[in-house]
Amino acid sequence: MADKSIVILISGRGSNMEAILAAALPARVAAVISNNPDARGLAVAAARGVTPVVVDHRRYADRARFDAALAAEIDRYAPDLVALAGFMRILTGAFVARYDRRLVNIHPSLLPAFPGLDTHRRALAAGVWIHGCTVHFVTPAVDDGPIIAQAAVPVAPDDTEERLAARVLAEEHRIYPQAIRWICEGRIVLGPDNRVQVRDRGQALGALVSPPLD
Ligand code: GRF
Repeated sequence: MADKSIVILISGRGSNMEAILAAALPARVAAVISNNPDARGLAVAAARGVTPVVVDHRRYADRARFDAALAAEIDRYAPDLVALAGFMRILTGAFVARYDRRLVNIHPSLLPAFPGLDTHRRALAAGVWIHGCTVHFVTPAVDDGPIIAQAAVPVAPDDTEERLAARVLAEEHRIYPQAIRWICEGRIVLGPDNRVQVRDRGQALGALVSPPLD
């Protein structure tokens, strides 16, 4: 089977993008696109041999025009999958519909808990014992959509936001390439109930066990 093609969208550091680029996947990253010309991840992509592309949202009058320009750029690569990796723009319903079942995101919380920003600070403030990250299909609602994979980490009583963020990020780098691998291998099925079914779920869960406290 021919390798799948992926386009990754970033806005900043790009560490999840780098984890995907570094993973041995049955897929080729055709392009990395950033809405932010100053995104640190652009240089990281270039260093790994992927030509970085900028579609600067500030050059477009409104969200719809930016999304149309972004879609035009993405479609040049005809990707099987579009992966949001720290992409900090809210996408229009038209954009999300265009990439229906082909658009995935990583979010730094155990959704549906803590959608939105500042997830680690909010998790600490709420006093949760367990925190984590989620890979999901994207729907028009922010940080919503069928869950593909999750990983949990323990929260220490004296955790700082930075320590907790680092612990979660390590898991993000593990499960995002894993989820993309499952999708590329055809192991992910979105059921009629809009829930994700993973073939060989037991084996899949085994890949998501949480690490001990550091
Ligand atoms: C990650 O925590 C991701 O879950 C969130 O934004 C952050 C992006 O980090 N959506 P990076 O750019 O991948 O390093």
